[in-house]
Amino acid sequence: MNYEELMLRAITRAEKFKYTAKPNPVVGAIIIKNNEIISEGYHQIYGENHAEINAIQEAQKHQGKKFEKFSELTLICTLEPCSHIGKTGSCADFIVKKGFKKVIIGSIDPNPRVAGRGIEILENNNIEVEYGLFKDLVEKQNKFFFYKHKTGKPHITVKIASSFDGMSHINDERVFITSESSRNDVQKIRANHDAILTGGNTLRNDNPKMDARVDFAVNQAKKILLTSKPYNNKLDFFNNASVDVFGINDLNEIINSYQDSEICSILVEAGPSLVNAFLKEGIVDELIVYTSKKILGEKGVNWFDKDNAIENYGFKLESSYKIDTDLKEIFIKDE
Ligand SMILES: NC(=O)c1ccc[n+]([C@@H]2O[C@H](COP(=O)([O-])OP(=O)(O)OC[C@H]3O[C@@H](n4cnc5c(N)ncnc54)[C@H](OP(=O)(O)O)[C@@H]3O)[C@@H](O)[C@H]2O)c1
Repeated sequence: MNYEELMLRAITRAEKFKYTAKPNPVVGAIIIKNNEIISEGYHQIYGENHAEINAIQEAQKHQGKKFEKFSELTLICTLEPCSHIGKTGSCADFIVKKGFKKVIIGSIDPNPRVAGRGIEILENNNIEVEYGLFKDLVEKQNKFFFYKHKTGKPHITVKIASSFDGMSHINDERVFITSESSRNDVQKIRANHDAILTGGNTLRNDNPKMDARVDFAVNQAKKILLTSKPYNNKLDFFNNASVDVFGINDLNEIINSYQDSEICSILVEAGPSLVNAFLKEGIVDELIVYTSKKILGEKGVNWFDKDNAIENYGFKLESSYKIDTDLKEIFIKDE
C-alpha cells in the first residue's frame, strides 16, 4: 500500500469512533515497514489512549519478529501528534523515545496548544516529517474540532421542529409535532454534539431527557441549562449528566465561557424565545428545521414573528429532504 492508500485507510477506520472519542477529534495511526502494515491504532474512547500510542503498543508485540528496531518504521497519522502532556502524556515525545525513522501526518493540529509544536519536536529529534496528506479530509472529519480552534468558540447548531403552520408548541399541552423517524434522526444529531442546551421553560413544561437514545456507543453530551429561576435537579434532564447551569441571559458571554473548554459543538434545543434570542445574536452556525404535515392552529405558538425570518437572520438553505412525512431542511450562515 502507498502512503495515500494508508492515510485513507487510517481516516476511514478512525471514523468508527466518532461518537466515543468526542469531544476529542477522531485520529488514526498506522505503522509500516517497507509499506507493509505492522500495526494500527485509533483514538477510540475519550480520555483513553491516543491513536499513536495504541499503534505503538500494538507494534511492540511484533518487535523481534516483523521488525527489530523502531528506526526501521514509518508512522502514518491523520492528525499531528500532540505536544502537550494531557491525560495520556505527549505523543510526540513518545514517538521520539521509540526512535521512528519517519512520520507522515495528515493535518496539523489546529489546537493552539499543539499547532506545529508536535512536528517541531519530531524534527528537532531528527525524525523525517511530511505533512498535509489529505488534510482537507481530516479537517472535514473533525469539523467541530477545527471550527472551535479556528474561531475560538464552539460551533452552534439550533434544531427546531415546526408544524406545517409554523408553530413550535401549544402552551400547557404536550404534542409531538414530527414523526418517529424524525425524532430518531434527532437522536443521532444529539449523539454527534458535545453539549445540548435548553432554557428554563422547556425544562419546566416538557421535562425532557435530551440525551442521545441510540443503538451504538456514545460519549453522552454535557447539558447546559439557561434559567434565572429555581429548578428541580431531580428532573430527567439531570439524570447521569454533567450539567452547567447559567443564571445570566447574555448568550455571548455564555458561549464564550466555553472557549477554553473541550466543548467544540453545542446543540440548542429550545422554544421560540430562546431560539430567536440565539438567532438575533448572530452566533448560530447551522439551523436544522423539521417540518411536519400537522397543523397546530390558533392554540399554537409561532416560531417566528414574520415570514422569511430564517433568510432575514442571514441563513441560506444548504440541503432539504424528506424523512417519512416530514421535511428536514438544513440552513447555514450565509457569509
Ligand atoms: N418544537 C420544538 O422543536 C421545541 C423544542 C423545545 C421546546 N419547545 C417548546 O417551547 C416551549 C418553551 O419555549 P420558550 O422559548 O418559552 O422556552 P425555553 O426554550 O425554555 O427558552 C426560554 C427560557 O430560557 C431562559 N433564557 C436565558 N437566557 C435567555 C435569553 N437570552 N433569551 C430568552 N430566554 C432566555 C429563560 O429561562 P427562565 O425563565 O427559567 O429564566 C427563558 O424563559 C416549551 O413549552 C416546549 O414545548 C419546542
